[in-house]
Amino acid sequence: LFSAVEMAPRDPILGLNEQFNADPNPKKVNLGVGVYFDDNGKLPLLQCVQAAEKAMMEKPAARGYLPIDGIAAYDNAVKALVFGADSDVVKSGRVATVQAIGGTGGLKIGADFLKKLNPQARVLISDPSWENHRALFANAGFEVGTYTYYDAATRSVNFDGMLADLRAAEPGTIVVLHACCHNPTGYDLTPEQWDQIIPVVQERGLVAFLDMAYQGFGHGIKEDGAVIGKFVAAGLNIFVSTSFSKSFSLYGERVGALSVVAADKDEAARVLSQLKIVVRTNYSNPPTHGGAVVAAVLNDPALRAQWEQELSEMRVRIKAMRQTLVDGLKAAGVQQDMSFITQQIGMFSYSGLTRDQMVRLRDEFGVYGTDTGRMCVAALNSKNIDYVCASIAKVI
Ligand code: LMR
Repeated sequence: LFSAVEMAPRDPILGLNEQFNADPNPKKVNLGVGVYFDDNGKLPLLQCVQAAEKAMMEKPAARGYLPIDGIAAYDNAVKALVFGADSDVVKSGRVATVQAIGGTGGLKIGADFLKKLNPQARVLISDPSWENHRALFANAGFEVGTYTYYDAATRSVNFDGMLADLRAAEPGTIVVLHACCHNPTGYDLTPEQWDQIIPVVQERGLVAFLDMAYQGFGHGIKEDGAVIGKFVAAGLNIFVSTSFSKSFSLYGERVGALSVVAADKDEAARVLSQLKIVVRTNYSNPPTHGGAVVAAVLNDPALRAQWEQELSEMRVRIKAMRQTLVDGLKAAGVQQDMSFITQQIGMFSYSGLTRDQMVRLRDEFGVYGTDTGRMCVAALNSKNIDYVCASIAKVI
C-alpha cells in the first residue's frame, strides 16, 4: 500500500524545531519558530492564565462535548475583541464566530467553507507570506498565487505593486491579508494604505481573509485590530482568523477562532450552520481547556487588564531587543546599516540574509532562523544576544 509513498519535505518552520532539538551545540539559539520567550529564555506562563486556571481548579468541571462552534462565552469574547463589543456588526448579529484549533484551524475552516462556496476561486497570498498559507489553501483544493508585497531593494512594502496586482485579480479571488505584524517581513501597511486597499477589494469583488495571529504585538490591541473595523465600515463580508497562541502564550492549547462577517443576521446564521458542518466533519468539536481559559480572562475585567499589561510587556521587550540587536551587530563589526530591524514590527525580522548564510548560521553556530532569512526577535534575550550578533557578523 505504501511502497510508492514519497518522503515529504520537512516543514520549513516547525521542522526547524526538530533539527534544533537534536542539535548538541550547547550555545544553540532557536530563532526559527514564532514563539515569545522571556529574558531568561523561558516560555512565559502568563499570570492571568495562572489565575484563571487556579479558579477553574477550585471548581473542577467534568468535560462534556462542547458545542460544535465552541464555548459561547469564548465566541462572544472573540467577537468583542475583534470587532468591538458595542459595534453595530456584533450587536446586529452579523458575525458568525467558531472556536478553532489555533489560528491555523481558523484559516482551514474558512478555506474549506470557501472551497464549497466558490470552488473555482483562486487564492492570492502576499509575496512572501507565512509558509503555511500556501500549503493550507493548496491542501483545501485551491490554486494559490501571490500578490506583490515586499520589496527587498527598498526594504519596504511595494505598495503600488500590491495595488496593481489586486486590481488585476479576477472577481471572487480570495486575498489573504495580514491584519498586523506581517509574517515574515515585519512590514505592515499604514492606515492610509489600507484605506486604498479596501476600495480595490470592494470594486473588484475580492474576498478578504484577514489573518490576525499577532494582535497586540505591533502597536497595541486596539491599534493592531483597527484594520478590521475599516473593512467592516466599508460594508465588506470578510473572514478573520484569530490566534491566542502568542498573545496568551498558549501555543500548545491551540486556541483560535474564525469569524465571518455576513450581510445580515439571517445570512450569518446560515454561514454559521455551514462552518459547523466543516468543523463536525473534520474534528467534531473543539477541546475545552484553552478556550475556557481565554474566555475566563477576556470576560473578567481584572484578568483582562492583567492580560493587556502582560501582552504589552512582551511587546515592549521585543521592541527593546530590536534596538539591542541593531547595536549588537554594529559592535560585532557588521558594517552595513541594520537599523531597518527597528522599523519592522511584530515577532519577526526579515534580516535580508541569504539561504546560504542562514544555513551557515545553523550548521556552524547553532543559530536557527528560517531559510528565507526570517528571525524571531522575540526569542532574543540579554544572555544570547551577544552570541547571536557575533554569529551573524561572521556569516555576513
Ligand atoms: C511561525 O510563523 O513561526 C508561527 O506562526 C508558528 C507556525 O505555526 O508556523
